[in-house]
Amino acid sequence: MDQKIRLRPAGPEDKVKIFNWLTKSDLTREMLGPPKFPDAPIPTWEDFSADYIDHYFDDAQPLLGRCFIIEYQYTEIGQINYNQIDSIEKSTEIDIWLADSRYAGKGWGIEAVRIFCNYLHQTLGCEKIYIAPSKRNTRAIKAYKKAGFSETRNLPHNFIPDYSDSIVLIKNYQNKITGA
Ligand SMILES: CC(C)(COP(=O)(O)OP(=O)(O)OC[C@H]1O[C@@H](n2cnc3c(N)ncnc32)[C@H](O)[C@@H]1OP(=O)(O)O)[C@@H](O)C(=O)NCCC(=O)NCCS
Repeated sequence: MDQKIRLRPAGPEDKVKIFNWLTKSDLTREMLGPPKFPDAPIPTWEDFSADYIDHYFDDAQPLLGRCFIIEYQYTEIGQINYNQIDSIEKSTEIDIWLADSRYAGKGWGIEAVRIFCNYLHQTLGCEKIYIAPSKRNTRAIKAYKKAGFSETRNLPHNFIPDYSDSIVLIKNYQNKITGA
């Protein structure tokens, strides 16, 4: 396990950077926009701001969602976030994107997902954590399975897929499937 990965809560000053990593990096084409993802257009700043509202970048409403900066040896290498926590089901959905291809393929994203899930479980009481990539994103699916996720047909409450072929993976602490 790589102990050099750290997560820190993002602040308002991180928002533009997180948007640029999502929409203007050499990894963008691996998750958004044509030619591979014409069904998931690259968001504009306005689209992004409508989804990633203020509470993702401050501590005002931690149950509604929060972004974190992923650091490797104090270099910022990406972002990971959770969305609204369903207090009945004790669940949430997460998203991750790294900042540049030079940080990918090293297992750092996998390690960030592991650390983040344990934080969500231990600190915010999440028993079920979902992630929903495109079936075309084989790297992401492989990474999430390595981080302890498995495919499920039980969709989260009010699930809105991002892709025409979204698949849902779950890390379920109730079933103690926490091996990774
Ligand atoms: C998806 C992501 C978080 C994975 O994190 P990562 O640390 O880069 O994961 P890695 O590439 O090290 O590991 C994933 C596995 O997939 C493999 N892999 C890499 N590229 C692949 C590809 N094109 N097809 C299939 N498998 C691939 C890796 O070899 C690795 O397996 P291994 O450990 O057995 O060798 C990161 O690559 C990323 O941010 N990608 C761009 C954004 C994105 O797709 N986000 C997810 C949206 S749902």
